[in-house]
Amino acid sequence: MNGKTLDWLAGPGAPLQGAICVPGDKSVSHRAVMLGALAEGVSEVEGFLEGEDTRATAAILGRLGVRFEAPGDGLRRIHGVGLHGLRGADGPLDCGNAGTGMRLLAGLLAGQAFDSTLVGDASLSRRPMGRVIEPLRRMGARIEAGEGGLPPLRIHASNGLQAIDYELPVASAQVKSAVLLAGLYARGETRVREPHPTRDYTERMLAAFGWPIRFSPGDARLEGGHRLRATRVLVPADFSSAAFFLVAASVVPGSDLLLRRVGMNPRRTGLLAALRAMGADITETPAGEQGGEPVADLRVRHARLRGIAVPEALVPDMIDEFPALFVAAALAEGETRVSGAAELRVKESDRIATMAAALRTLGADIEEAPDGALIRGGRLQGGEVHSHGDHRIAMALAVAAQRAAGEVRITDCANVATSFPGFVALAGGAGFGLQETAGLG
Ligand code: S3P
Repeated sequence: MNGKTLDWLAGPGAPLQGAICVPGDKSVSHRAVMLGALAEGVSEVEGFLEGEDTRATAAILGRLGVRFEAPGDGLRRIHGVGLHGLRGADGPLDCGNAGTGMRLLAGLLAGQAFDSTLVGDASLSRRPMGRVIEPLRRMGARIEAGEGGLPPLRIHASNGLQAIDYELPVASAQVKSAVLLAGLYARGETRVREPHPTRDYTERMLAAFGWPIRFSPGDARLEGGHRLRATRVLVPADFSSAAFFLVAASVVPGSDLLLRRVGMNPRRTGLLAALRAMGADITETPAGEQGGEPVADLRVRHARLRGIAVPEALVPDMIDEFPALFVAAALAEGETRVSGAAELRVKESDRIATMAAALRTLGADIEEAPDGALIRGGRLQGGEVHSHGDHRIAMALAVAAQRAAGEVRITDCANVATSFPGFVALAGGAGFGLQETAGLG
């Protein structure tokens, strides 16, 4: 950020109208460059998310000897080096803000014949890595973390990995993916079982790159020692980026907005179920498949929302969408209760605490619980709120501002570029009251 900070001045907004397309999926983009790098031949990625997180992952693979071409926006040609073709880099590998980058790369690097060090920014340096280190060590990996299991991660050259049968203690696609990626290098069959199924992009993409894998919701198995073959990956639009518009158009009177070709993987679309239970008016027109994922056009019109108790079973399917859901709840009639979502406390920020503090500043009635919150809907006012450098908090608060009675200053918004470059322009074009301004801090 060069010492400069970026704030937003937000709201109130006009009705949201028109048709928009949000950028490519972050989870799919990370995996596409990783598997493309390890494949034999040249892979092509279309719709790659040009965000800081996914670019950081591509840059790390570049330092490990993989050649990337970027012939246009969202396009990558990856000259894969094969499963054993990476070479060690001098100095630390910087994952930036990306938990997905660091955790998946930890799995991928655990099986290499060279040492690596993974580092991240201030937010990532506070996020728990013990959850990936523990199973990877069981596989024979030699990994050291900083105090308390925090980054940096020092991953030593592998002496050979052994497959494990692992039951995930937390619902985490990142942990599952780290174990599966290490499993590519392990002797025997690696199996990951999940009490609550999480997004299955790693499994789907391994299959698309030709690796034999068997998977069903909550259970994935593969054997080491096969090959990945280059392929073409079409990245669908990111449901988590669409989420801000689903909530915004639901809460701003007069809105009627079309979101085109949004990725609809069932492990991602929990927010849709929650918003519909609250009374949202969202229609879904299937638009075929993109890169093996169902995609749909979503039309969302303003509706009166009512509070709900969010079913705990839905939590993993909407884990990144809680900041947006909290805003919908703060503007709904009645109470919304969120529970079973303690994972929110270890995301890019403590998302329960940051959302509660910000919404309270805007006049909302919200009580924190260790694993969720109780939100009583009402009216919002203007004020100054802090995103704590968390991209999804910043965007959720911009949505809240559209219905606030006065202007909202949102601080520390530069990290929105990690997942949603161009958000301010796209949202402004659709009707948001939103502009960038130099930070005061
Ligand atoms: C992701 C998994 C989720 C999600 C993150 C992306 C992935 O994290 O919050 O934004 O791409 O696998 P966890 O698996 O830690 O819940």
